[in-house]
Amino acid sequence: MIKTIFPIDIFKHCETPFYYYDLELLKATLREMKSHVKGLPYKVHYAVKANANPRILHEIREAGLSIDCVSGGEIVAALAAGFKGDAIAFAGVGKTDREIALGINHDIFCFNVESLPELDVINEIAATKGKKANVALRVNPNIDAHTHKYITTGLSENKFGINLELLDAAVDKALSLPDVNLMGLHFHIGSQLLDFTPYKMLCERINELQEHFENRGVSFKIINVGGGLGIDYANPDANPIPDFKGYFDTFKENLKLRPGQELHFELGRAIVGQCGSLITRVLYVKNGTTRNFAIVDAGMTDLIRPALYQAHHVVQNITSESVETAKYDIVGPICESSDKFASDESLPETQRGDLLALRSAGAYGEVMSMQYNCRRLPSSHFSRE
Ligand code: LLP
Repeated sequence: MIKTIFPIDIFKHCETPFYYYDLELLKATLREMKSHVKGLPYKVHYAVKANANPRILHEIREAGLSIDCVSGGEIVAALAAGFKGDAIAFAGVGKTDREIALGINHDIFCFNVESLPELDVINEIAATKGKKANVALRVNPNIDAHTHKYITTGLSENKFGINLELLDAAVDKALSLPDVNLMGLHFHIGSQLLDFTPYKMLCERINELQEHFENRGVSFKIINVGGGLGIDYANPDANPIPDFKGYFDTFKENLKLRPGQELHFELGRAIVGQCGSLITRVLYVKNGTTRNFAIVDAGMTDLIRPALYQAHHVVQNITSESVETAKYDIVGPICESSDKFASDESLPETQRGDLLALRSAGAYGEVMSMQYNCRRLPSSHFSRE
């Protein structure tokens, strides 16, 4: 069992708040993930949006993963980390002409196209460069992932992908355009999924679609099922590595891949989520009339998930030696009441100067930090390998 051990003596000299990444855990997670796709026609793209820290990207590239980008900036970050153009899948509902040109210049593996007009634009830009762009059509399969509404993407009311009713027209269009090459179909139904039933439904939908298109004489080289595998936010030490076996087995058992067809995945959170913690110092403990507040130097600007999605990250006091416990609301210094990490969190008696770790913050933590209130962006430190 891999358990993150915090090097507290080193932390005491570091300016807070900062992200701490356990590279051993990241490597173990990558090893475990790879063990389940070995020998299968599966390719995993790491979703950079989860964490674009160069040190993390380096580790992921070393492990041999491909990459999933959603902006020109992410393509630049991926290239800087040494990923080659042919490892890049590029998704996003609103790709600008400049971003499309960047992708074409680098001969990226595939554009995941989200609308019919986008197909025309990619075709035009590819033509001006004398190139042919590989595309997959992102389908909105109208499947409820039963996750938080802000991270549900596969319902027809969501802005993502091409609705099923328009898919025939989109396939016809892609096949008729001279400067795009239709490689496959792409799906992503949502994020932080722990129940695999929606994936099973997705597989069934894909089986139906494949049959439908084969009847029309159309076949696809790749099927991309996106990402979304969740992590155990409540038990980071007991479950540091997500259930890759259950996840990949769901596709192995339910999706009818055709001979020569490749199945692609775009995992973000499952790869980096558990290896990162946000380390923050307690500035003040203030006793209110009804609750105790532990006011810390990290805020929603450093980790926005609790404010934005009501997410709970386990809070650990990593320096207190007290055996007494008390309940605290853990709040930051930002001038917003939503700047709260936890309510009634039970911690060892906590005082000014203590260091707290907000666990499971490796995904959508550092990368979503911002400078509201003219704050400094958090820095990052890594475990020694
Ligand atoms: N592929 C596509 C097309 C996506 O939109 C996403 C995530 C992924 C892959 C990777 O999903 P993952 O494996 O990480 O679940 N900020 C939110 C999560 C937003 C996810 C957006 N799309 C959070 O903190 O929970």
